[in-house]
Amino acid sequence: MLVLGLESSCDETAAAVYSDGVVLSGVVRSQVDLHNRYGGVVPEIASRAHLEAVDVVAAAALKEAGCVLDDLDGLAVTQGPGLVGALLVALSFAKGLAFALNLPLTGVNHVKAHALAPFMTVSGGDAVPVPEFPLAALVVSGGHTHLYRLDDYLDFSLLGRTRDDAAGEAFDKTAKLMGLGYPGGRAIEELAAEGDPEAFRMPRPMLHEGLDFSFSGLKTRVLTICREENLADRPKDDPRLRDLAASFQAAAVDVLTAKLARACESFGARGAVLAGGVAANGVLRRRTAQVLSRLGLPLYLPPLAWCADNAAMIAHLGARQLQKGLQILELDAEAWPRWPAA
Ligand code: KG4
Ligand code: ZN
Repeated sequence: MLVLGLESSCDETAAAVYSDGVVLSGVVRSQVDLHNRYGGVVPEIASRAHLEAVDVVAAAALKEAGCVLDDLDGLAVTQGPGLVGALLVALSFAKGLAFALNLPLTGVNHVKAHALAPFMTVSGGDAVPVPEFPLAALVVSGGHTHLYRLDDYLDFSLLGRTRDDAAGEAFDKTAKLMGLGYPGGRAIEELAAEGDPEAFRMPRPMLHEGLDFSFSGLKTRVLTICREENLADRPKDDPRLRDLAASFQAAAVDVLTAKLARACESFGARGAVLAGGVAANGVLRRRTAQVLSRLGLPLYLPPLAWCADNAAMIAHLGARQLQKGLQILELDAEAWPRWPAA
């Protein structure tokens, strides 16, 4: 089954072609440069940029896969969660294509698509891992921090989520307070590499409490330190900035890995997934691998390119839904900016 996937939920316009377990192509056009100067995503700018790019990325993905519209068997599009004006761009474009080509269109949940990203094979790459279920899956991105139990690829139950900021949002806000620009996750990781993770005392919010998360206290602590030490005005390679980045990152990683381990133990998981933009963080990847190995469980990590937003993950989950006739959209289907997590 040849499926074209489309994604426009936040600040990346993406298209990908997926066929029977293999990603044939993937094209992502990032808007980071457009939003950087505002210190975050501006919804109106995002929608306009998606409008300008959606047909371009779709055509490029088809070309890269060596196929044409008539070869497709179905379409998949992110229906939510995300920015409503941004979601509507790919959704409307996909509806038009589905109507014109008389093809089924399925609506995909962006966060669940992230969780399945480790199970896609790229054309010519290594075979896709086949996990044993149930799995625990932690999706950590700019907008979401969700902990799921997966009893099958399409059988998700929500175990926990953030009560305030998402993990990536905490990285981004910390970077902004430190004058590092947007998005800040990678910048924090780079600075932290030469800092002392124990230089500043940081809270580990809700570390010993259940499976929900809270990151706003951590952000407030960073704000207090930045004010007390005037850190925002320091040069980027200032040692105190490095120490703060390392201390913040260590606290975030401690909480994320502890909750994933607790989730695994709570229901006897046979393995775990770490996915989403923050899963590109090397320290988080290494620490999670250590924790899972202590539990004797396999860890499934997407390659770096599939941690961030992309359409291959949308086409992949979409193909599984199309095969079962799930979430098939009619022309009056709406975007779901707050699609409930499970
Ligand atoms: O999944 P994603 O591309 O978009 C959303 O669905 O939100 O995630 C973007 C988030 C941003 O908050 C970004 O700062 C964070 O992922 N991120 C990182 C790293 N690379 C990206 N956070 C920590 N360390 C990184 N290396
Ligand atoms: Zn995402």
